[in-house]
Amino acid sequence: MTFFNKDDILNAFHYRASTRSYDGNKKISDDDFYAILEMGRLSPSSVGSEPWQFLVLQNAHLRQKLKPYCWGIPTMETSSHIVAILAKKNARYDTPYFGQIMDRRGLTGEAREKALVVYKKFQTEDIAILDSDRSLYDWASKQTYIALANMMTGAAMMGIDSCPIEGFDYKEVNQILADEGLFDPAEWAVSVMCTFGYRDKDIKPKARKAFDEVVKFME
Ligand SMILES: Cc1cc2nc3c(=O)[nH]c(=O)nc-3n(C[C@H](O)[C@H](O)[C@H](O)COP(=O)(O)O)c2cc1C
Repeated sequence: MTFFNKDDILNAFHYRASTRSYDGNKKISDDDFYAILEMGRLSPSSVGSEPWQFLVLQNAHLRQKLKPYCWGIPTMETSSHIVAILAKKNARYDTPYFGQIMDRRGLTGEAREKALVVYKKFQTEDIAILDSDRSLYDWASKQTYIALANMMTGAAMMGIDSCPIEGFDYKEVNQILADEGLFDPAEWAVSVMCTFGYRDKDIKPKARKAFDEVVKFME
């Protein structure tokens, strides 16, 4: 394993900037974009739930359909790639979906039963997300933001720009994509989107809270 110099990594964090203007003629190579998707797929998630799917929206007609519901942003046309990240609905501990999680973890027999008791307590009492469908969905949605962050930072490390997108009409966008047959709306819904491409102008340096304002050491 090759490890990376922290200054290079931090430089990539500074370089990453929400990009609202792309060079529409520059496309990310398939090879590079597959690597970015891998960074999403390899992301960590609570109990290994991986409650995500990545829809890569390259169809120009579909992008046009979505644009009015994405605040009309021009990057719906000019970005090289757009990913709609779906989050799983109803990822309850007692569903076949959870069974698959346990399969992936190689849990069988007594170990599986013990894990189920832990997952039940976790979802019911500890993190307490079974009070509504919305709470359960939001838990899945939180996991998708980890994949989102990894894809954006990984892209920046490759010199590729991105912009996370929550600024859209969730109801309309979900309807359009589900009507296209891209997912079953009983099972999945769009959590967040992200555009990718290459900036066509400089972006001013970040404004951030001071380090001491956000970090406290307890010694
Ligand atoms: C979850 C999330 C959703 C966002 N949605 C939008 C969006 O819809 N449109 C947009 O222009 N920027 C969006 N942003 C970008 C933020 O405005 C931006 O991250 C913030 O101002 C900090 O700037 P930076 O990303 O360039 O460091 C979003 C950021 C996050 C993390």
